[in-house]
Amino acid sequence: MLTWDRLQTLGGISDEPARLKRVFASPGMRTAAAQLFEWMRAARLTVTTDDWGNLFARTPHPDSMPLLVIGSHFDTVPGAGKYDGALGILAAIGALETLSQDEIKHLPFAVEIAAFSDEEGTRFHTTYLGSRAAAGGIEPADLARRDSSGTTLASLIPEKSRQPSPRYTKGKLLAYWEAHIEQGPVLEKLNLPLGIVTAIAGQTRAKIRFTGRAAHAGTCPMDMRHDALAGAAEFVLAAESLARETPDLVATVGCLDIAAPASNVVPAATDLTLDLRHPNDSTRSQSIATLQSTAESIAKKRGLTHAWETVQENSAVACDPAQSRILEAAVAANQKEVPRLSSGAGHDAVAMSKVAPVAMLFVRCRGGVSHHPDEYASPADVAACVETLAEGIRRLARQ
Ligand code: GLV
Ligand code: MN
Ligand code: MN
Repeated sequence: MLTWDRLQTLGGISDEPARLKRVFASPGMRTAAAQLFEWMRAARLTVTTDDWGNLFARTPHPDSMPLLVIGSHFDTVPGAGKYDGALGILAAIGALETLSQDEIKHLPFAVEIAAFSDEEGTRFHTTYLGSRAAAGGIEPADLARRDSSGTTLASLIPEKSRQPSPRYTKGKLLAYWEAHIEQGPVLEKLNLPLGIVTAIAGQTRAKIRFTGRAAHAGTCPMDMRHDALAGAAEFVLAAESLARETPDLVATVGCLDIAAPASNVVPAATDLTLDLRHPNDSTRSQSIATLQSTAESIAKKRGLTHAWETVQENSAVACDPAQSRILEAAVAANQKEVPRLSSGAGHDAVAMSKVAPVAMLFVRCRGGVSHHPDEYASPADVAACVETLAEGIRRLARQ
């Protein structure tokens, strides 16, 4: 079955009937994992799973051999497209099917496909859970996090695996490769199917609560109000302005939640999330400090209190030059020019960079649209990605 056709099939597996959404440890994730398992087995790989919902599919080489891991995630945001994450896993399966059994047998390393169970952080607002369970970095604070219905992450993981012993440790891996839809417009503008990623922007995720006082919407004069939503709204616009005036900074408030909302009650408390990213870590830290003091002054001016919880911070990650050159040469086998571009999106390669040199391949994305049902990569571009990963494996074998 063609990789592009598999993407359509996997994209039809969802937690909700009307849109694509697969979140950590959901029914949709279990069905998707069963489908991946079947394709991995059909590709003659040995498949194992862990208690964090990850799947690992390995070529038949002894454990003692060096290891190349190729992977990505199969969870999604709500209202997702079919390519973000899934493409990297399915293209890796396709690449191993492209190589002949004889080529695989004679590789001087094993290849393992990692299908990670949570990169987006949709359910617990914390990213890279799947790849951090595999590469280390799960914190007690992650386990204590609650989803919107109050379920803790810890309650979904068997006790013996809550502090997982990492499957991947530093010095044991040759490299980690990840193919991913670009999620931006650069390759389309250049009219080229594939590009090489130079670096992944650092990101900070925070939860912020403004607390005021509930009051009657008809009787409380405007100058006596402590409206938590109005404070949150001012913060949203301040974050937008800062990002607009700071080159390469992006800031997003993606969740906004009014406690006990009612149309005739002045909001007493409002929670919001902030996702802030920049390729340069010191600019990111300075921007966070600026927004912390902005939140404080908004609260003071409006007679509110505010609480700031930093949920996750990831430094920018540079891709490994030597591994990137291998993928670059593989792209160049079929493409005249090989663009290099940086990634504003986060990827499992960030968590895997703690244990391995990482390299990433980007695939052209129609209109730069992602985290949206219209996300699209063409069958020809997906096929080029599969062929390039296969060629990359051949080239790594010749090193
Ligand atoms: C993952 O899609 C991210 O938020 O960058
Ligand atoms: Mn992704
Ligand atoms: Mn995504």
